[in-house]
Amino acid sequence: MKVLVTGGAGFIASHIVDALIERGHQVVVVDNLSTGFSHNLNPRAKFYHMSIADEGLSDVFDKEKPDVVNHHAAQMVIARSVADPLFDARENIIGGLNVIVNSVRSGVKKVIYASSGGAVYGEPEYIPADEQHPVNPISQYGVSKHVVEHYLYLYGVLSGLNYVVLRYSNVYGPRQNPGGEAGVVAIFAGQMLRGEQPTIFGQGDKTRDYTCVFDIVEANLLAVERGEKLICNIGNGVETSDKEMFDTLADVLKYKGIPRYDSVRQGEVHHICLECSLAREKLGWESKISLREGLLKSVEYYRRLDASLGD
Ligand SMILES: NC(=O)c1ccc[n+]([C@@H]2O[C@H](COP(=O)([O-])OP(=O)(O)OC[C@H]3O[C@@H](n4cnc5c(N)ncnc54)[C@H](O)[C@@H]3O)[C@@H](O)[C@H]2O)c1
Repeated sequence: MKVLVTGGAGFIASHIVDALIERGHQVVVVDNLSTGFSHNLNPRAKFYHMSIADEGLSDVFDKEKPDVVNHHAAQMVIARSVADPLFDARENIIGGLNVIVNSVRSGVKKVIYASSGGAVYGEPEYIPADEQHPVNPISQYGVSKHVVEHYLYLYGVLSGLNYVVLRYSNVYGPRQNPGGEAGVVAIFAGQMLRGEQPTIFGQGDKTRDYTCVFDIVEANLLAVERGEKLICNIGNGVETSDKEMFDTLADVLKYKGIPRYDSVRQGEVHHICLECSLAREKLGWESKISLREGLLKSVEYYRRLDASLGD
């Protein structure tokens, strides 16, 4: 099968590209390298250095005629969406719509879309939040991620487009950028390795549901074959507080420092954890990697990265 992966030079989708290629699929990547890196690109994937919001995207679809589109390209920093909502909307909404319209026009069989269970529900009324939970995002990012779900539903009705929306919890793992503006595991690990003091926003009691990127890859592989017009949560189902995350990482990295505390950033929810039985039922997916196991895999990567930067 030919799969077009948007954002395939980024943290999550570069792993998906690797796994698709390993399973014998042909892969085409579209990425503008705004937060992704060319060194993440699988050399066996065909690469288009382009924004998904670009009109030229239609030429890529015409030329490549993908069977499946896996859509991961996005601006994914909540704080950036709050500071510059128009930028967030252009990248995520206009870009996402451009991907969908071209998918419909060129007869793509399925679109797999990376949404955010951490952002679309807003401050949850109950935890773990299932897919029936009201959608009330409290950040511009949460809104923009959700709007694309609506377009998928719409084109499903109007044009019979098939799709699987995966609402991820907080994803962590190798290749997450320690110098990025989001991704607490990568940022804390990078800071601890450099002997710097990480900052916890809030009192340390905010909770998140952390899922290792290799579990996320598995969900994407299953979604190629299974799931019809499906929207489902993808998470680990375990609530971990910021302070617990700090302590676990400090333990794994033998970091002796203490965190600095600052005020909670606008747009961030206090608690989130996802209920994922629909993914089990419809995709046959469940999270298999525990937080400690996933952190050990991540830390190995950040140690190597730190050592290579020090060379
Ligand atoms: N990391 C998480 O915890 C998490 C949680 C929920 C959902 N998601 C979603 O997963 C996706 C991937 O996130 P990530 O953590 O790998 O982030 P990332 O920043 O590493 O990856 C995004 C990729 O998209 C590319 N990109 C951004 N804007 C683009 C544009 N206009 N045109 C073409 N390429 C563009 C970037 O260069 C990058 O390679 C995003 O859609 C994000 O919203 C991530």
